[in-house]
Amino acid sequence: MGLTVAVAGLNFGELWVPLYQLHPDVDRVVLCDASVETLERVGASTGIADRAQSLDDVLADPRIDAVHLLTPLQLHAEQTLAALHAGKHCAVAVTPALELDQLHQIVKAQQDTGLNYMMMETGAYSDPVVHLRAEIDSGAFGNVTFGRGEHHQDMEGWPGYWVGLPPMWYSIHALAPLLAILGARPATVRALGSGRLPSDREAKWGNPYPLETALYELEDNPVTLEVTRSMFQTTRSPIESFSVWGDRHGFDSGRTNDETALFYSWGAPGPGGRGRTVIAEPYSPPELSWTVPEELRPTLALPQNYNGASPRLVHEFVRSIVESRRPALDAVVAAQWTAAGFAAHESALQGGAVVEVPSFT
Ligand SMILES: NC(=O)c1ccc[n+]([C@@H]2O[C@H](COP(=O)([O-])OP(=O)(O)OC[C@H]3O[C@@H](n4cnc5c(N)ncnc54)[C@H](O)[C@@H]3O)[C@@H](O)[C@H]2O)c1
Repeated sequence: MGLTVAVAGLNFGELWVPLYQLHPDVDRVVLCDASVETLERVGASTGIADRAQSLDDVLADPRIDAVHLLTPLQLHAEQTLAALHAGKHCAVAVTPALELDQLHQIVKAQQDTGLNYMMMETGAYSDPVVHLRAEIDSGAFGNVTFGRGEHHQDMEGWPGYWVGLPPMWYSIHALAPLLAILGARPATVRALGSGRLPSDREAKWGNPYPLETALYELEDNPVTLEVTRSMFQTTRSPIESFSVWGDRHGFDSGRTNDETALFYSWGAPGPGGRGRTVIAEPYSPPELSWTVPEELRPTLALPQNYNGASPRLVHEFVRSIVESRRPALDAVVAAQWTAAGFAAHESALQGGAVVEVPSFT
């Protein structure tokens, strides 16, 4: 008997519904959105008749095994706790919470209930991240020296809850690829804010900055990570990008959407033996269709699926439930990565002081 999964919040969530419909371990998908028009639109496009306008109705339905929350981010923590306490496995779009205490509550609720919780962070499961993690683990990439992540996106005109949000509270798309590749926990951070929001925007979340930039030290790992996030007043192409540099190879995903990702290797010694030439090849990931079941393979390359990340995340969440095991991006990982952003914003407010990233177990 396969799972019944409810997808709640059907703007971004609309893109995830077909992935659950295709998954061989999912029998039934239920749609949930507060807006009747959205429910009708997505119901018509997916052919799904099971619809709920209220998350409470979903949580009260004993036939539903799991909920994937893609509602506005300020609702995530409360809805996650409600879902777990109602006996539902819970997946959540980033960011999972906006306060440190909520992260502790989520970790505790997951542990108390024994249910599965997974953060559906697309940056941790893209083709290059899956590939480079394997290359680093096998030693083929060499020892990593440095990693840099950036996420720039202009949030003018987006729903009001984004206005003035501390950039580092939603820095996970810049940080996650690096942490996933290195398998590391962020330990300390020093960060600075840059620019100044108008005072009415600053008042909303008590954040003065349109952009924040941070340096992370890692636990038991000598690599430093540099992470930059902007949401307002930064005229440039939107991008989620990362680079990782090692002693044998380097990778750069490109710093605008028009740039090609490059994979670097050493060439011949330079003139007089000074330095080495560098071979920069356009990067293309290896064959990764084995990462998802056959039914999901055609979706890996679809542009809305974040370089294969969304189908892989759905597969990991569903299989972790079927196999009664913790998912890869469980409550502890979600808390550590999210708290890393909170710590960076705190550091920026303190003018760059070293702030410890809380640890969760
Ligand atoms: N790459 C990524 O991981 C990625 C990309 C885009 C968005 N997101 C995240 O996905 C989430 C949703 O983003 P969005 O842009 O679609 O947000 P949105 O505000 O545009 O849409 C949210 C949807 O949820 C519905 N909704 C609101 N309250 C609800 C409730 N209480 N119960 C049920 N439905 C409710 C709304 O009607 C709407 O359809 C956000 O947390 C965002 O951060 C992540």
